[in-house]
Amino acid sequence: MCGIVGYVGYRDALGVVVDALRRMEYRGYDSAGVAILDGNGALAVERKAGRLANLEAELGEAGTERFAGSTGMGHTRWATHGAPTDRNAHPHRDISGKLAVVHNGIIENFAPLRRELEEAGVELLSDTDTEVAVHLVSRAYADGPTAGEFTASVHAVLQRLEGAFTLVFTHADHPGTIVAARRSTPLVVGVGEGEMFIASDVTAFIEHTREAVELGQNQAVVITAEGYRVTDFAGNTEGVHSRPFTIDWDLAAAEKGGHDYFMLKEIEEQPTAVADTLLGHFVIDEKGGRIVLDEQRLADQELREFDKVFVVACGSSYHSGLLAKYAIEHWTRVPVEVELASEFRYRDPVLDRSTLVVAISQSGETADTLEAVRHAKEQKARVLAICNTNGAQIPRESDAVIYTRTGPEIGVASTKAFLAQVAANYLVGLALAQARGTKYPDEVAREFAELESMPKLISRVLETAPQVRAIARELAHVPTVLFLGRHVGYPVALEGALKLKELAYLHAEGFAAGELKHGPIALIEQGLPVIIVMPSPKGRAVLHSKLLSNIREIQARGARTIVIAEEGDDTVRPFADDLIEIPAAPTLYQPLLSTVPLQIFAAEVAQALGYDVDKPRNLAKSVTVE
Ligand code: AGP
Ligand code: GLU
Repeated sequence: MCGIVGYVGYRDALGVVVDALRRMEYRGYDSAGVAILDGNGALAVERKAGRLANLEAELGEAGTERFAGSTGMGHTRWATHGAPTDRNAHPHRDISGKLAVVHNGIIENFAPLRRELEEAGVELLSDTDTEVAVHLVSRAYADGPTAGEFTASVHAVLQRLEGAFTLVFTHADHPGTIVAARRSTPLVVGVGEGEMFIASDVTAFIEHTREAVELGQNQAVVITAEGYRVTDFAGNTEGVHSRPFTIDWDLAAAEKGGHDYFMLKEIEEQPTAVADTLLGHFVIDEKGGRIVLDEQRLADQELREFDKVFVVACGSSYHSGLLAKYAIEHWTRVPVEVELASEFRYRDPVLDRSTLVVAISQSGETADTLEAVRHAKEQKARVLAICNTNGAQIPRESDAVIYTRTGPEIGVASTKAFLAQVAANYLVGLALAQARGTKYPDEVAREFAELESMPKLISRVLETAPQVRAIARELAHVPTVLFLGRHVGYPVALEGALKLKELAYLHAEGFAAGELKHGPIALIEQGLPVIIVMPSPKGRAVLHSKLLSNIREIQARGARTIVIAEEGDDTVRPFADDLIEIPAAPTLYQPLLSTVPLQIFAAEVAQALGYDVDKPRNLAKSVTVE
């Protein structure tokens, strides 16, 4: 996730680009940078770590004379590869300094491409995946079949890249031209009068034009002041269709993708968030493939030596940790303790150098979790962070990290980060199983394939939104909602209750369904809404039958039962006052689906009550105090 903008036209490109970056800063704020062509064959670049204001200050000091020109581009970064520093900030340039690129996404095969460039004597100056693109295009432009041809050189390189990417190139030899392309990450053209825009989203140019063209998958585009030309990655136009449309949002809505709140957009971004988090973590090898972690500084031998895993986190991240326990114990037989970070160091936990501590944090700055990491390090444990913020304090103080690549999560209530954390936690489990040999390579490959199939299924769950919203509006004024689940459905019940608490400020509680008869069933009364997360009927039959009995018990006492169940599970239908059907998935993967209706439910109740979904009262996105 990041903010990209390109401009060709008659205006001062620097002004257009910086204004656009300001409006897209919510998309990423690890660094910002611009590249402007002055029309005399010079490419002026400035980039700075941190917020856009840092870049503007730099531009102010350096003076903007060298940035005079009407062709340019800009980038606000959400780092995935390489810490948020000046040298990793975009744009990245080639050796000649005449070619620049900005990038959104992940070039999955950057490592072999980087090796190829280094073996050819190219010096790469950053730690990013992005930089390989600019050097490859530079080499294609300098020599070989596309020598001297800017667009053809870009096309030739696009066909070598794997992963998710939006790439935008400018070349000092070609003022008035910008070449761009997209695969799996957004790119839209803004069509003006005598000027053209290219951007991650319409927020960048909505004040200049409402005429836009959305590019399709694996499409490239050349823009000039006079127009644009869309092709495939080989430069062909036939059979290549892009979607012209007129923007009917205002500027504020455009930032939220047409939604009233960032959280609603982020719920819809979950398929991409999970897919991006998995990108590059499974590499094919002679045994069929293996899991690789980010910035892994834990050797397989160390992964083999751990005799215990401790997961520490807060809130939703803690709930994702509870799910990690089921997967890691099942796949590795290593005992896993999951502890609230705020309790961890005060309970004198038993851990030592044979313990792996997994610290899960979207922000990477949560004080409770950071202090838990520090305590773990004092006890000589090794720490692996699961984090959504590249270069944050928690990953910095950890021994290894897996980044959830969801882009910025603006809504205080965690949604896409939570699902991405679950996926990342499962990667840790598979990496442990792989290193310890408790799963054969083909079994690891099969589990990873299940994970990779989740984004499509999550997209299908999003289609239940209208039904879920209708139920939420009907129940918006109830005083209490209970959530029930068994096995991996229990952490999902806890997460659903947390969403409702923090968004609608009403009493909500999640229970392990088996606990009902030990007390909570006394809460059941006529009309009390209870949301039940049913396991797959094709999974552990005992879990399904026990939970069915629980539903009958509460329905007999007057509860309003809202059941989330696998599509086609007709056994629950007679006991469900409302039945929300989700696609079938193996037991461990079902939480990636069953959580989504609970997010939608909570957000809709909050909207029905007139609350600010993105900024719930008393809460903050990052809790940096203990
Ligand atoms: C989740 O919806 C909440 N916003 C909150 O519980 C959050 O998960 C918790 O504060 C942990 O934050 P972190 O992941 O940034 O460490
Ligand atoms: N993967 C690139 C980087 O880490 C681009 C990240 C983004 O989308 O901002 O620099």
